[in-house]
Amino acid sequence: MRLPMATPTGWRREGNLPAELTSFIGRTRLLANLKRRLNESRLVTVTGIGGVGKSRTVLRLAHQVRSQYEDGVWFADLARLQDAGMVRHTIASALGIADQSSRAESESLSEWVGERQMLLIIDTCEHLVQGCAELVEELLESNPNLKVLATSRQSLHLPYEHVVPVPPLQVPGDDPAEGLFTNESVQLFAARAGAVMPDFVLDEENISAVAELCRRLDGIPLAIELAAVRLRALSVEQILGLLTDRFSLLAGASRTALPRHQTLRAAIGWSHELCEPAERLLWARLSVFAGDFELDAARFVCADERLPQEDITDLVTGLVEKSILLIRSNHAGVRYKLIDTLAEYGEEWLDKLGETEPMRHRHLDYYLSLAQRGEDAWSGPRQIYWFVRMRQEHDNVRVALEHALRTPGKTMLALKLLSSLWFMWICCGFTREGRLYLERALQANPGVSKERCKALWVLSYVRSAQGDSGGALAASEQCSTEAVRVGDSKAVILASKMQGTAALLQGDLQKASALLGVAIEFNTDNKELNPGLLPAIVELSLVLNSQGEMYEAESLLADCLQVCKERGELWVASYANWALSIVCLATTRAADALRSAQEALRIKRHFHDTLGTLLVLETTARILTAQDQMSLAARLLGALHQNWKSAGLPMLGAPFLTTDHDQVVKECKKSLGEQAYDEYFGEGTRLDLDEASASALGELDTIE
Ligand SMILES: Nc1ncnc2c1ncn2[C@@H]1O[C@H](COP(=O)(O)OP(=O)(O)OP(=O)(O)O)[C@@H](O)[C@H]1O
Ligand SMILES: [Mg+2]
Repeated sequence: MRLPMATPTGWRREGNLPAELTSFIGRTRLLANLKRRLNESRLVTVTGIGGVGKSRTVLRLAHQVRSQYEDGVWFADLARLQDAGMVRHTIASALGIADQSSRAESESLSEWVGERQMLLIIDTCEHLVQGCAELVEELLESNPNLKVLATSRQSLHLPYEHVVPVPPLQVPGDDPAEGLFTNESVQLFAARAGAVMPDFVLDEENISAVAELCRRLDGIPLAIELAAVRLRALSVEQILGLLTDRFSLLAGASRTALPRHQTLRAAIGWSHELCEPAERLLWARLSVFAGDFELDAARFVCADERLPQEDITDLVTGLVEKSILLIRSNHAGVRYKLIDTLAEYGEEWLDKLGETEPMRHRHLDYYLSLAQRGEDAWSGPRQIYWFVRMRQEHDNVRVALEHALRTPGKTMLALKLLSSLWFMWICCGFTREGRLYLERALQANPGVSKERCKALWVLSYVRSAQGDSGGALAASEQCSTEAVRVGDSKAVILASKMQGTAALLQGDLQKASALLGVAIEFNTDNKELNPGLLPAIVELSLVLNSQGEMYEAESLLADCLQVCKERGELWVASYANWALSIVCLATTRAADALRSAQEALRIKRHFHDTLGTLLVLETTARILTAQDQMSLAARLLGALHQNWKSAGLPMLGAPFLTTDHDQVVKECKKSLGEQAYDEYFGEGTRLDLDEASASALGELDTIE
């Protein structure tokens, strides 16, 4: 299997805009107006009824103005988010911000944005207006170069907000001077018709029916798209005839037009009726997914005796053909997504069927088993695949967790899901989120159990990764106590490992050495290689190095790297290379040290491992100082200063790192002089982590 390249998108300066999958029609004036508003104001909210084109128009605009924002245009979609408390998380993770520190999230979100000149798009705010408004207000207040563009069915009610309503597309007759063929609604219909029936052309024969259809559909893009799909089976006249009958039935005998929001409902309802019963049922069931999903997930969650597994693929294809489902393919495979308004409709339908709870349970079961598969496979040759996969499933994982935490009798599953995902919290840059959830789940499951023990050592690991060594120690000690009570020897070993990690961060080398030694010694069958044995070896080598036992440290690391190589374990290998660079430096082999540090950095690029990257860059700055490359070292110090802010406690507060850091600063200043030092340092503060890594790898010669 080919491993996907996984440069964490969040680190790229240009932003994270999704691609536009279909052609964009018209809206010239609206786009010009939006651009003007955005120049004048720092907050523009695009409002309008469902399906009118808010998200799509904003996306088009975003692509058009992208080059004007030095630090990119960023897109956060809140459509399927249920919990207002997760707005910050969702935005932070869309921005790709390392979610490491234990400080208040708003602080690190604001700090990350800092002086950056960027446009943040928050799509679909209406169900979380209050939470969005508070966050936007905070961000705009503390970040002078930030602009926000929101879409919402209602405004955010902020005093300086510019509200721009999105009307439906022009329909024939709106502008008497306009020809029928050039009308935007007609053009949208023709474009979508062409996708369904490649030989479809607008001509004198069908134009008046198409024009009438667009008028009937009030120029609502989603309604037009849904109607165009019916061309597979019907002519334009037939569609128009059926729709007219249906709408007049709905509008009552008076034959007055339907209000606009009802037009869309009616169009959706009509699409719904025209689906096969099995497709309808699948549509409803698919509404439990948040964001997009894989076919496998649909098969597991939605199939039963009424929807046999072997039929799901064809049914999904049917829904794609009817424009109910969107297809998204990327390097990791094909994924599907229900269009927002249609997902809402599906949700209501599911509720009417009384299937909401059972479907949510199945959704939870699926993500639990996926997480467990990921955990089992993590320390192996498909590590990068699992990193990419779980990042894609993040929204679904959140929904599953929320469901488990809120449902009596299911909270233990939350604990299991969270613990299995230790690699996601620790290795992929989501410590803060992991911690919040773990603490909630532990509270919800107070009785002593094996599941709790596992959650406790994971929590300890997460807290260590945030530099909260006191909290880490507390959790691992509790784990140890409870593990003895339930007779869980595996948890006892892992608790010892985590206690050792916390002791290392606190600079208690003797305690660290004893505890890590115990974890290594008792891991006799080598089952817990990662997160247990291999990281314990790396950490013990750091302890030994600090104690002046460089030879032992190096030979431990050589063994560790060998095991990593045999299993295809990359994440620990990157840490082992980092530790090796520290040992090489301590034995005055700066060139070897640099090679190992660079190897570590290259591996870390595959993961969203902000913490790991920062740690390696700290060591790289030291190596460069030893090589008398003071200007580059000073730049790295600047970049580190800036990037630790959003990552957590600088140097994890660990004495073995902070002492070295202070020494490097001193040497650089002495060699360069304060003024030159400040200049290089200042240049460094403008580097994001990706750029800092590139400069440490010798890929950036100069800094613009
Ligand atoms: N100008 C346009 N050109 C082409 N397609 C469009 C245009 N405007 C909207 N669409 C299409 O119409 C559909 C609905 O648009 P969109 O999702 O942007 O609506 P929305 O207002 O964001 O709805 P919601 O309130 O449900 O989020 C989408 O499939 C979109 O691609
Ligand atoms: Mg939308």
